[in-house]
Amino acid sequence: MILYFSGTGNSLAVARQLAEKLNEPLMPIVEATDVDLTNEKRIGIVFPTYDFNLPPALPEMISRLNISSKSYVFTVVTCGSMAGNCIWVLRCILHEKGIELAYSHKVSVPDNSALAFGRNPNKQLGKFERVPARMEQIIRELQAESHTLHYSWFSVLSWLLGRPAVEKGMIHCLGPKVIADKCIGCNTCVRVCPMENIRLVDGKAIIGDNCTVCFACVHACAQQAMRTNGQEVRKERQYRNPQIKLKDLLLR
Ligand SMILES: Cc1cc2nc3c(=O)[nH]c(=O)nc-3n(C[C@H](O)[C@H](O)[C@H](O)COP(=O)(O)O)c2cc1C
Repeated sequence: MILYFSGTGNSLAVARQLAEKLNEPLMPIVEATDVDLTNEKRIGIVFPTYDFNLPPALPEMISRLNISSKSYVFTVVTCGSMAGNCIWVLRCILHEKGIELAYSHKVSVPDNSALAFGRNPNKQLGKFERVPARMEQIIRELQAESHTLHYSWFSVLSWLLGRPAVEKGMIHCLGPKVIADKCIGCNTCVRVCPMENIRLVDGKAIIGDNCTVCFACVHACAQQAMRTNGQEVRKERQYRNPQIKLKDLLLR
C-alpha cells in the first residue's frame, strides 16, 4: 500500500510511480486513518517537506494509522532541495507506535511554495531531469526490501528551523486568504483541500482554522482568488506537477 499526501502533485506523481512499479495500491493518507492496514506486506508513505519538517497535519495522521510492526514500512519525501529533518521526525513518530522505518529517500522537484516568495515554481522544471535516476534507485532498493535510511546528519541542524513556533508562523504568513471579489464559488478549492478546511458560504470560499499550508487551493484556483504571504497569485506562477491532472488531486 502506498499512502500519499500531496498539494500540487509532486508527491502524488512519485507515489503513483512507486505503486505501479511495486504493484501496490495507492491511497490518499487522509483516507487511510480509518482503514485496517495491518495485513499489508509493504507500506510506503510519500509526502512533501514543509519547512524542513513534515506537513503540520501529518504527524497526527501517521500516529492514527492502523499498521503492523510486521510490515516493511518506508518513506519517500519530496522537496525543493532540502528535506531537512523529515525522515528523522517520521522515524520517531513510527517508533512510538512500535514500527521500524526501514527505508527512506528523497526526491528533489520544483518548490511549490516559491510563488509565495515572488518566485516561479515553473522555472524549476529542470529539477525533473534528475528524477528518473533517483526513482530507479529507489525502486531497485525497495524491490530488494533494503533497510537503509538515506539521511544526512547535517539535516539535524535544520530541525531547529522546523520547530512548532516556526510552523505556527509559517501557517500564519503563508496560509492562503480568499480574495472575495475574485472568488466565483466554483468549488475547486473545496475539492482539492486535503484537510476539508474550505467551504462555500453564500457562493464564496471560506477557509477554516485547519490549514496545513499545502498550497493545493492556491495553485488550483482558476481565478487566482487566493493570496499567500500577503501577495496575490499570478497565473504563470501557479504550479501542478506535469504528470498530474487537476482531477487527480480532487479528493471529493
Ligand atoms: C509551506 C511549504 C514549505 C516548504 N518547505 C520546504 C523546505 O523546507 N524544503 C524544501 O526543500 N522544500 C520545501 N517546500 C517545497 C515542497 O516540499 C515541494 O515542492 C513538494 O514537492 C510539494 O509536494 P506536492 O506537490 O506533493 O504538494 C515547501 C512547500 C510548502 C508549501
